[in-house]
Amino acid sequence: MAFLFYLKMKTAPIGIFDSGYGGLTVLREIAALLPGYDYLYLGDNARSPYGPRDFDTIYTYTLECVQYLFGQGCPLIILACNTASAKALRNIQQLALPKIAPDRRVLGVIRPTAEVIGNFSKTKKVGVLGTLGTVRSESYLMEIGKFFPELEVSQQACPMWVPLVENGELTGAGTEFFVKKYLGELLAKAPDVDTLLLACTHYPLLEPVIRQFLPIYPFGKEIKVISQGGIVAKSLVDYLHRHPEFEEKCSKHGHRTFHTTGSAEDFDGHASAFFGQKVRSSHVAVAHY
Ligand code: DGL
Repeated sequence: MAFLFYLKMKTAPIGIFDSGYGGLTVLREIAALLPGYDYLYLGDNARSPYGPRDFDTIYTYTLECVQYLFGQGCPLIILACNTASAKALRNIQQLALPKIAPDRRVLGVIRPTAEVIGNFSKTKKVGVLGTLGTVRSESYLMEIGKFFPELEVSQQACPMWVPLVENGELTGAGTEFFVKKYLGELLAKAPDVDTLLLACTHYPLLEPVIRQFLPIYPFGKEIKVISQGGIVAKSLVDYLHRHPEFEEKCSKHGHRTFHTTGSAEDFDGHASAFFGQKVRSSHVAVAHY
């Protein structure tokens, strides 16, 4: 029904995808900057987390979700997930899109972040906190190297953070233990970083605990903690300016629609912490589980 409506209008919402709730931290910033557009969010909560999964599985799952969003008419999709951006985006853009949807676009979150991250650092030493998949892909090392070759980038995988956040464990002794552990491991190998990139769209929910465990330095020196939402939102504004052929395919009624492959009830219970307001979602199937 919704699909027929959008087909008739020849415009459709911008698709925002994440393995779970994390992409809502990106959608929140995008919707604040571009409120007039329609957005269709898809969280693959049934199969989250993606971080520990192998390359082929992340590619297959991400492509299924992208095809689902194309099926809903989306002319443009943002993979608001670093793991999917690292492991699946290039193949989707180069191999799948020319065959399945040459007139649509799929964008990621790593490149827009890499384009600006060096501007935050004075010491030119940056720490990247991400999932196992993102860290192992070395996508940030490669992408940041293109824009800021002088930057020293140290990576740290934080495999327990997404499960904690997906389960709403944002405070408490267990969460503090794992925040302290991964931060400690990063700062032990890179004590001079002055900028920490939260290179997973789930991690902004842990920012208060992360800040709690940052070292206190004398003389006003401090470590900046950078989330991607605002960066990705600005980059989308720029993209839509540069690509009016896609901008005009995006519907503009200020609608936000939320789909999850998991339980809609669970999604609605957790989503407001990420999105900043109440959410009513629908359960959908994107594949045969
Ligand atoms: N929000 C995803 C990211 O940015 C989490 C990935 C996962 O499911 O492990 O990487």
